[in-house]
Amino acid sequence: MTRYSPALVALHWILALMIIVPLFVGGPGLSRIDNADPAKIGALQGHMTFGVIVLILMLIRLVVRLRSDKPPHADTGNALVDLAGKVSHWSFYVLVILMCLSGIGISISAGLPAIVFQGSGDPLPPDFFAYPPRIAHGIIANLLMLLVALHVIAALYHQFYLKDGLFRRMWFGKRT
Ligand code: HEM
Repeated sequence: MTRYSPALVALHWILALMIIVPLFVGGPGLSRIDNADPAKIGALQGHMTFGVIVLILMLIRLVVRLRSDKPPHADTGNALVDLAGKVSHWSFYVLVILMCLSGIGISISAGLPAIVFQGSGDPLPPDFFAYPPRIAHGIIANLLMLLVALHVIAALYHQFYLKDGLFRRMWFGKRT
């Protein structure tokens, strides 16, 4: 097996985009909008809907990954670095799922479903930091940014320094 399955490849790149955009642009932009600003409701609607779609796609990818044949783990020649690779891949599932669950946690504690999606007309709280899931969402966001940076550096190291054609594994084509 030389490549991941087409479903895993497609979900990898779709999820990469769908996580990087809210992580580096959407989320930080959202938290800069004052909760009293009328634009906040629309921004929350977009961010929350997007986040729940990410959660669903991430769970689908996890199930497909556990059930499909995949190439053996990339070998760098250093057991410790190889282990770090495996840990970092599983950390993505843990952190992305926790990111979404903490977001849902903020939403439930602040009563956002009624305010944001059902137009209850209630005001938003002055900010969300009174709710512990908001603190968690911010911390996990920073950990996830670090993990994305490490992942990109590791992929480039494989591709251009070790020259082991790692990118080919995560693209479409013949699998044997
Ligand atoms: C992978 C999915 C997600 C990513 C990458 C993401 C990213 C972010 C980031 C980077 C922030 C700003 C953090 C900070 O500056 O401290 C944020 C804030 C927030 N996110 Fe998410 N988020 C995701 C999913 C969700 C979900 C599923 C919900 C709710 C259903 C949600 C609700 C919120 C809320 C309410 C805020 C606070 C905005 C504020 O403080 O004004 N997020 N998100």
